[in-house]
Amino acid sequence: MCGIVGYVGHQDAAPLLLEGLSRLEYRGYDSAGLVIRRDGELRATKRQGKLERLRSALAERPLAGAGCGLGHTRWATHGAPSKRNAHPVLDSFKRLALIHNGIIENFLELKQGLSAEGWRFDTDTDTEVVANLISSRLEAGGSLLAAVRSAVQAIEGMYAIAVISTGSEHDEIVAARHGPPLLLGYGDGETYLASDAAALLEHTRDFTFLENGDIARLTSRGAVIWDRRGEAAERPRQRLLWDPVQIEKGGYKHFMLKEIHEQAQALQDTFSGRVDFERQEVDLSSLGPLAEPGVLAGIERIHLLACGTSWHAALVGKFFIEQLVRIPVEVDYGSEYRYRDPIVDHRVLALGISQSGETADTLSAMTAARDRGGRLATISNVVGSEATRIAEGVVYTHAGPEIGVASTKAFTSQLAALYLFALYLRQARGLVVDAEHLDPLAHLPQAVAEALAREAQITEIARNHFRAENFLYLGRGLDYPIALEGALKLKEISYIHAEGYPAGEMKHGPIALIDANLPVVALVTGAREVADKVTSNIHEVKARDGIVIALTDRDPGQLMGLADEIITVPHVSHYLQPIVDVVPLQLLAYQIGVKRGCDVDQPRNLAKSVTVE
Ligand code: AGP
Repeated sequence: MCGIVGYVGHQDAAPLLLEGLSRLEYRGYDSAGLVIRRDGELRATKRQGKLERLRSALAERPLAGAGCGLGHTRWATHGAPSKRNAHPVLDSFKRLALIHNGIIENFLELKQGLSAEGWRFDTDTDTEVVANLISSRLEAGGSLLAAVRSAVQAIEGMYAIAVISTGSEHDEIVAARHGPPLLLGYGDGETYLASDAAALLEHTRDFTFLENGDIARLTSRGAVIWDRRGEAAERPRQRLLWDPVQIEKGGYKHFMLKEIHEQAQALQDTFSGRVDFERQEVDLSSLGPLAEPGVLAGIERIHLLACGTSWHAALVGKFFIEQLVRIPVEVDYGSEYRYRDPIVDHRVLALGISQSGETADTLSAMTAARDRGGRLATISNVVGSEATRIAEGVVYTHAGPEIGVASTKAFTSQLAALYLFALYLRQARGLVVDAEHLDPLAHLPQAVAEALAREAQITEIARNHFRAENFLYLGRGLDYPIALEGALKLKEISYIHAEGYPAGEMKHGPIALIDANLPVVALVTGAREVADKVTSNIHEVKARDGIVIALTDRDPGQLMGLADEIITVPHVSHYLQPIVDVVPLQLLAYQIGVKRGCDVDQPRNLAKSVTVE
């Protein structure tokens, strides 16, 4: 998912746009480019690969002296990563430059039409079709705004676009949004545009989030917005409290490592102010109309909707809600939900779980549930994100900005938010919430800090096993989703093929993979009967010469002489143990990724928020 940034004002645009792109690089790093409008002319510089390449090209040949420009980091969908396919994309007559995040689904049809009219195409992108389409509308005379408004009528698909033109009387940017996020930022005599606030926090905290169908015209005097009907629209200004320091590495080598180490604080921030330990109450009034008396008591079924790491959180959430509230929970991949034509009515609460709040698959599942008559809530980490705007109620994780592509602190904060949600549901249905449920929360940050203190040992374990080409992760009950998450982190960060499995399922197939080259990470935590069963599975692995890395919250004695490596973590409580257990797995994946020389903050082929389906 690409990163978009734009500026119109009195400052030199290029350095400002470049710095904004450096905050958006986690959204895509296949290529990067800038364009400025100086004296009515467009000057662009683009490079394949990391932003560093664009930075050095601009150091050699600066794009200086212009107060208006656009910047883009690309995650390739149509057209291979290359300088030729990099954005900004210009039209055939080089009179406008356009940047785009999303996918134009009818681009081939539009391209055939435009080619037949003589428009030339120099790239393999779907985006160039939009550039030529707008340019063809400009031919009919009229303003850039009118041309964009007319062009988007013909487009099908997802798009956040911004365009500047040689023909504009004054410096102006015209932007349009349908799907991927786009927000405006305000300064004194300057106006900004970006895919997410992180790109602009250095300059402003005042933002407006464009709605789907909105078109905006930005000048140095501010921005005017029109809705999908072409009516002038007032969109609320929001002040974001995130501090620019939070988006720095803070002395850590990588954002991922910094964010792993921020988990104790993120958990504290996620439940503090929502738990009254004295009155033994949970307050999630942020759920708005869903928190009204009787609403949650009337809910008979919960649908948890998510993708990737958030989907693993949903699997843990199912345990929390079914065991603590005794109502059935269905967990669906956002991308698959619609295809099963889910049975939804007003007694169903759909809860979309998304760090970014912008994952297209999760958003489409949330919309599918709402359109079938379900109630809709979300757990998200980003204020103002789309998920928080389509949902009736929100439970924010307060993990702070998560820059590393591999989700870590947002995951553990999601688990804490899901636990609070389950307790709140319990409370709303007249079931007791007491110290047994709440006190462990108070000990959680300390327990996570203790798990983080195992870093040196885990680095040693990574040194012993980073050459392995396959890994297996085993867990039972609440630890099964944690095994899945451990495997996903390793896949994302080190490109090692890894699978997470219910430990009991191993003997039904994956046991065939076991040999002396396959490290098996086994989670031996939680209730005695569960831990004992996993220990038997470890015996089965050792019987086939497998290598076992055991993680346990119990006395490691019985694993001595059995497991090759033993990581001990503190025990908290039945429900909160998964939050502690995942921390060493995050560190293991990180350390193995570093030892294999991988770019752990920007793993190949990935992007932080997936804004296309
Ligand atoms: C996790 O490390 C990945 N970045 C990815 O699986 C992610 O969890 C998924 O894309 C969902 O993102 P979201 O939570 O922002 O919706």
